[in-house]
Amino acid sequence: MTPPLEKGGGVITGWGIALGPEILTNHDLADRMDTSDEWIVERTGIRERRIGGSTAGLAVQAAKNALAKAGRSAEEIDLLILATTTPDDQIPATSAMVQSELGLTCGAMDINAACSGFVYSLITGFGFLKLGYKRVLVVGSETLSRFTDWEDRSTAILFGDGAGAFIIEATEADGCLLGWNLGCDGSLRDILFAEIGGTINMSGQEVFRKAVIAMTDSAESSLTASGLSANEIAYVIPHQANIRIIESSMKRLGIPLDRAVSVLERTGNTSSASIPLALFEALDDGRVSSGDILLLVGFGAGMTSASAVIQWGTNNE
Ligand code: ACO
Repeated sequence: MTPPLEKGGGVITGWGIALGPEILTNHDLADRMDTSDEWIVERTGIRERRIGGSTAGLAVQAAKNALAKAGRSAEEIDLLILATTTPDDQIPATSAMVQSELGLTCGAMDINAACSGFVYSLITGFGFLKLGYKRVLVVGSETLSRFTDWEDRSTAILFGDGAGAFIIEATEADGCLLGWNLGCDGSLRDILFAEIGGTINMSGQEVFRKAVIAMTDSAESSLTASGLSANEIAYVIPHQANIRIIESSMKRLGIPLDRAVSVLERTGNTSSASIPLALFEALDDGRVSSGDILLLVGFGAGMTSASAVIQWGTNNE
């Protein structure tokens, strides 16, 4: 059960993204394996994905853009939280490299909650603002192409590389976080996994079924915690895994599909970078207005789930 939120908290003041340098289209994949653009678009909604770069490199690029947007310098950041399920090395955490490259002087840590990682990290960041930190840099960065079996058409079509970064800052006034939920059902860890040194294995249909349930259960818990109902949501920012998972989840939540922000047509599934990439797009193209209620919701290997209800406001800019 999510505890009630006290007054005060944090607001979002900066955002930035980075994408892998190479565009890999469905047609490129069809040249390499037994698949087609038509099959991939119909079953997933993905047309192309971006490949390449390192998890730290993409995170640094996205974070620099977020710092510039917030008008903040490296020394003003009190904590770096990096959500990733594809670290560059086993040891040390990839956040150590990002911390150094950005010239941060604060603490840094990785969080691995698979595709739910960014929302896990965002909630963790809001918690640290309650503990007294002024500014937290939260990044989701992934290079899933390094963990993809390029001979396996059932998974190779899905994944891409990218990063999204957000700055959250403490406020005396009302914070933007209205409700949240974190979940995990570890009994489902065998339906989606990669062993150390291995590539991603997935029971696609099982993941699909469980994902829809996890997304809707988590979203409903966050909505209950915030005291809001589904029809008050302006935009849902879902994990970008498969357009059919988004469609099914929106249907179960009773929210029209045109309120779901989707970038997966161009990015594929970028795990913990997918929600920040979609949130960035919604903010960047100006569709989000002051006062709008946003629902961030994701699921991932574990099986983890996470959601957050956020009110966009003048405090956020
Ligand atoms: N091109 C053409 N045919 C294919 C391809 C492909 N790329 N992949 C599989 N097929 C074939 C299968 O071999 C099968 O053929 P068969 O009937 O002759 O045996 C047929 O298509 C149907 O396969 P299904 O697996 O039943 O296809 P489905 O409609 O379930 O789609 C998919 C597969 C896209 C993987 C879907 O199950 C899915 O999206 N699942 C969820 C994936 C997901 O969200 N993963 C999250 C990962 S997040 C993380 O933590 C990294």
